[in-house]
Amino acid sequence: MRDFLETQRLRLRRLESDDLEAMFAYRNDPEVARYQTFRARARDEIAEMIRAQADLQPGAPGAEYQFAVGLKADDILIGDVYFGVEPTGRQAEIGYTLAAEFQGHGYATEAVRGVLAYAFERICLHRVTAGADPRNLPSLRLLERLGFRREGYSPESYWDGEAWTDDVRYAMLAREWRARPR
Ligand SMILES: CC(C)(COP(=O)(O)OP(=O)(O)OC[C@H]1O[C@@H](n2cnc3c(N)ncnc32)[C@H](O)[C@@H]1OP(=O)(O)O)[C@@H](O)C(=O)NCCC(=O)NCCS
Repeated sequence: MRDFLETQRLRLRRLESDDLEAMFAYRNDPEVARYQTFRARARDEIAEMIRAQADLQPGAPGAEYQFAVGLKADDILIGDVYFGVEPTGRQAEIGYTLAAEFQGHGYATEAVRGVLAYAFERICLHRVTAGADPRNLPSLRLLERLGFRREGYSPESYWDGEAWTDDVRYAMLAREWRARPR
């Protein structure tokens, strides 16, 4: 196993085939999937998603990397953070999912902050973006807590599998990351 990022309580690493059952379980929890661009995912689709990660390098231009988020103490998989870098290699989009039983402890904040530090300080990206369904209040709170700036509102801009859904757009520039309050 190769570790890529560590934060105070978490290890963010490559997804492995052993993560399949845990990921399948939380990704198919209706509460977790409610505001995602995907709904339920078949076990085979998740297995394929994990397999596809083997060939990707986090931060490489065009790579749609998905960090596995595990607790440092026991490496239990508690969620994942999407980190998709544009082909230009200068900007990225993030996304995040935590299993329900691990929400409410600040783990998502810590994991995404770790990815932002990596994005801005290690690979020197210019801008990181994120989007959230406006009804997804925990997600909006997370982005605002991290210092993301609200950039726009796109009504009915993505199909979530059942309906056209609104998207609140957020971004952070490298200079905003550097100037954030500590
Ligand atoms: C979006 C999501 C990751 C947010 O999870 P979360 O648990 O609220 O976020 P964090 O892990 O950072 O925890 C923050 C919460 O824990 C609380 N908390 C408790 N202990 C804490 C600690 N030690 N440090 C920081 N926060 C702590 C905070 O007060 C905060 O609660 P609040 O938002 O009610 O004020 C989660 O709701 C999720 O996975 N949802 C399903 C998937 C999804 O919708 N993803 C987003 C698609 S856009």
